[in-house]
Formats: sequence, structure tokens, C-alpha cells
Amino acid sequence: MATELLLITFLSSPILLITLIITLLIIIIFRRRITSDPENKYRNLPPGHLGGWPFIGDTIPFMRPHSAASLGEFVDQKIARHGKIFKVKLFGKPTIVSADPSLNRFILQSEERLFLCSYPKGVENIMGKWSMLALTGEIHREMRSIALSFISNLKLKADFLSDIEEQAVEIISAWRENITFSAHEEAKKFAFNLMVKYLMSMNMSMPETAQLRKEYTSFMNGMASIPINLPGTAYRKALQSRLIILKIIGNKLDEKVQNTEEGLQGDDDLLASVVKNTDLKREQILDLILSILFAGHETSSAAISLAIYFLQSCPKALQQLREEHSKISKRKMEMGETRLNWDDYKKMEFTKCVINETLRLGNIVKFLHRKAIRDVQFNGYDIPCSWGVIPIISAEHLDPSIYEDPQQFNPWRWQIILSNVSKNNMIMSFSGGPRLCPGAELAKLEMAMLLHHLVQKYEWELAEKDFPVSFPFLEFPNGLPIKVHCV
Ligand code: HEM
Ligand SMILES: *[C@@H]1O[C@H](CO)[C@@H](O)[C@H](O)[C@H]1NC(C)=O
Ligand SMILES: *[C@@H]1O[C@H](CO)[C@@H](O)[C@H](O)[C@H]1NC(C)=O
Ligand SMILES: *[C@@H]1O[C@H](CO)[C@@H](O)[C@H](O)[C@H]1NC(C)=O
Ligand SMILES: *[C@@H]1O[C@H](CO)[C@@H](O)[C@H](O)[C@H]1NC(C)=O
Repeated sequence: MATELLLITFLSSPILLITLIITLLIIIIFRRRITSDPENKYRNLPPGHLGGWPFIGDTIPFMRPHSAASLGEFVDQKIARHGKIFKVKLFGKPTIVSADPSLNRFILQSEERLFLCSYPKGVENIMGKWSMLALTGEIHREMRSIALSFISNLKLKADFLSDIEEQAVEIISAWRENITFSAHEEAKKFAFNLMVKYLMSMNMSMPETAQLRKEYTSFMNGMASIPINLPGTAYRKALQSRLIILKIIGNKLDEKVQNTEEGLQGDDDLLASVVKNTDLKREQILDLILSILFAGHETSSAAISLAIYFLQSCPKALQQLREEHSKISKRKMEMGETRLNWDDYKKMEFTKCVINETLRLGNIVKFLHRKAIRDVQFNGYDIPCSWGVIPIISAEHLDPSIYEDPQQFNPWRWQIILSNVSKNNMIMSFSGGPRLCPGAELAKLEMAMLLHHLVQKYEWELAEKDFPVSFPFLEFPNGLPIKVHCV
């Protein structure tokens, strides 16, 4: 009714009609100029359209939630129409999207030479300008080496593996039979507790730890939201949470600085070591800690929830996993040992197949943000300098020409892959090249330690239907509600 009325008003008034036509003409000519300009210089742009909404283009359909074991309707349709490499307007920029495994590898390997990590402004504002995910060049290398040495130092510690195991036992033993709870929430608690312990020596009996976790949740919600800074938006709340989180980390930082000045031993954690051994500025240190907390906890908790989800749907895999871990436990009992060690971890062969398969089908990170910093040619296609470039790393995981029956959770496929090594069967979940995730081994260890105790103590079932969804951050819409029973 309302639109009809509007149309009649327009048509009955010649002045309005003329204005309308002129406006349309201007829009059309203007668009032509923008889109045809690069087309003259770059003869072989990938197929696709740079249309959609003004400024944001097709960002909304691209970001629409979908099952994590798929690429989503938007990308699927584009691939069907244009092939695995196409152009589209995303996040305010003309962008090349790639679901092509060899182009994706090429992009990741050519970081800083042809391509550069480049997050949208909205994400960068929440993460902070000194966040590891947003930095490039020399300062990124410096921060990255801090993160790498932090994780390799952890591994040198004798009690490191036991720490993770202890945390796993603590979380699991609080579960009650026949009572529905959110497994994803528990996984987050597990990964969060570990990260805040290693980063800042915080534990759950400190009130600020609970506050940090609470603020962190709204921080996360804003990360995947549309960046509109108005009262009441998720984005605004996230920016506010960011400030509170920085304040909590800042208080810890002050403690460490004071300890160092007074020559006290203090805690042995990443924050203390950064204060002692680097000359990073305060705001740089805060963003560094926040970015590792984010990168190290959101992802590995998703991985654990995915394993819980996939295993309940595949009793045969669960059974084989249980046998592997019972065997390890039995041997340890005979030797009079209680805590797991690196040798035990090495024996968890089937577990590692389950982990790979979980990462493959779960697709915790769907795509990465890059931009071209030179004119690049790939397989005859032009990728113009300064365009956005989005490698969809999950595409390879779901490609039937690489993984037979890709929708099937089949950990045994990794046994065959292991005996027949092929470059194609690489897990892309941790990115690659110079920005390869430094926490990959830590995340796998966390999964293995938790699974070891979980499968021996409990059977579990979904209490309500739920499944992993790419939001694009991996989420379980209902929080993965499960019920456990002792085995
Ligand atoms: C299953 C779990 C994990 C997944 C799927 C994952 C995935 C990723 C991916 C895809 C990137 C690259 C981002 C890019 O190239 O733009 C990355 C970077 C990073 N991850 Fe992880 N990650 C996981 C666990 C961890 C853990 C446990 C830590 C703990 C310290 C961690 C710390 C980092 C850091 C610091 C970076 C930034 C590296 C850099 O920019 O050079 N991640 N992660
Ligand atoms: C949980 O439920 C099962 C089957 O319904 C029952 O056999 C078991 O006793 C219950 N356990 C507890 C602790 O209530
Ligand atoms: C938590 O940390 C405080 C202060 O360092 C310590 O006194 C307390 O024992 C710790 N609690 C646990 C459960 O580790
Ligand atoms: C290894 O791969 C080749 C080619 O895909 C296949 O023909 C062969 O049967 C595989 N071998 C094993 C042991 O799986
Ligand atoms: C899991 O994937 C990684 C990386 O793709 C590979 O190197 C490793 O051999 C795989 N592990 C198993 C047990 O298949």
C-alpha cells in the first residue's frame, strides 16, 4: 500500500519524476566509472560483480551465518556461477575471494611480498592497533617472536603438560550426571583458565578473573557485529568492554612493573617476561596480551566443543578413542605413574586423527583478511594492487576432489593419508606462511589432554539439537547442551 502510494505520487508529479530519472542516471554513470576504470588497466579480472549495497557491497550476504561444514549459500552460488576465484565488493573494497587451494597457499606464502594482512577497520578498533592480528612489518615480527618464545618456553617446563591435564580434570570432574549443561561454555572456561594463567598468572579464585571473562564475552560479540558506534549496539558495547579489559590487564601490568623495580622474583608468566625483557610501550603490551588471549582461547575452545560434538555422532570413533586412552592409562597404572607426559602424548595416534578430522570438518576459521600490495597475476587472472583479498581456507577442507565424502566425520581417513603423504591433505585451519598460528601445537595438546579424561570418564549425548555454525566465528547456537553419564 505505502509503496503504491509513493509510486503514484512520483508518477503524478513531473518534477519529482525528472529528479528521480536524473538521480538514477547519475548513479549509473558514476558506477560505470568506478567499475570500468580498473577494467581497462586490468584485462583479466576474475569474474563476478562489484555491486551490492553502497559502500559495504555484498558484506551482509557474505557474512550470513551458515553451517560450519559448508561455505554458505552466498559463496556456493558464486562458485557455481563464476568458479573458485571471483570478485565481489566486501568490507568497503573491491575484493578477490578465493576458494582455490593453490591460490590460497600462494597468498599465505607471499605475505609481505605481494599480500599483506589487513583487517577491516571495525575489527581493528576492537582488537586495538597494536594487536598481533592487525600488525605487519617489523613490529609484527617482534611481537610474533615474543609469542613464539612464550609458547616454546612453556613446552620446556616440566609441569606444563600436567598443568593442562590438571585443568582438564578439574573442569570435567565438576560435571554432574543427567543434568543438561553447555559443553561449549565449559570448553571456553577450560581454555580461558589456561590462557590467563600463562599470560598473567590469574586463577579462578581471583574476582578479577571472573570479571575479565564476563567482559570478554561482550567483547567477542562485538567482533562479528556491524561496526556502528551508536548507543546500544553490540559494537559500542564491545568497545566499552575493551576498555575494562585493558584496565584489568593494566593492573596486572602495574604489579609486574613494581615487582621488577623492587627486584622481586614475581610470577613467571608472559606479562612479567615482556615487562622484564622488552622495551615495548604500555599500550603495545596491553594489546599484545589481549590479542593472544583472544587468539588462544576462542579458537581452542571451539576445537574442543567440535570434538565433543562430532564424537557423539560417531560411536565407533569414540569407542576406538576410548580404547587408545584406556590402554595408556592402564600402562601408567602398572608403572605407578599418575600424570601424563610427552611419551604418553606421542602414543595418542588415533587421537591425532580425530583432532585433524575435527579441525577439517569444523572449520573454526573460515577465511582470512588480506590485501594485495602489488599488482599480482595468478593463473592468468589479475589481482590489482590495493584490492582486498580473502582466502577462504575452509574451502579446501570441504573439497570432494581432495577429501572423499567431505561431509562425513571420518578420522580413519587420516590413517590412509599418513601412509600416502600428499601435499594436498594439509589442515589449513592454522593459516600458513609467515603468519602460521604459533599456538597450533598448544591447541592440539589441550584437545588431547581433555579428550583423554573425557572419553574415559563419560558417555555423553546432545540434550537438544545443535550444530556448529560459522557466524563467521564458530558458535553453537544453543551452546552445545549435553548430558553426561559415567562409563
Ligand atoms: C584450534 C585452535 C586454533 C586455531 C584454529 C587457530 C587459528 C589461527 C589462524 C588461522 C591464525 C592466522 C590469522 C591470519 O593469518 O590472519 C592464527 C594466528 C594466531 N594464533 Fe592461533 N589458532 C588456534 C589456537 C591458538 C592458540 C592456543 C594460541 C595461543 C597462544 C594462538 C595464538 C595465535 C597468535 C598469537 C596468532 C597471530 C600470529 C601472527 O599474526 O603472526 N592460536 N591462529
Ligand atoms: C542418570 O540416568 C540414568 C538413566 O536414566 C540412571 O540409570 C542413573 O541412575 C542416573 N544417574 C544419576 C546420578 O541420577
Ligand atoms: C590463586 O592465586 C592466589 C594468588 O596468587 C593464590 O593464593 C591461590 O592459592 C590461587 N588459587 C588457586 C585455586 O590456584
Ligand atoms: C596412494 O595414493 C594413490 C593415488 O591417489 C593411490 O592409487 C594408492 O592406492 C594410495 N596408496 C595407499 C596405500 O593408500
Ligand atoms: C594432521 O595434519 C597435519 C597437517 O596437515 C599433518 O602434518 C599430520 O600428519 C596429520 N596427522 C595425522 C595423524 O594424520
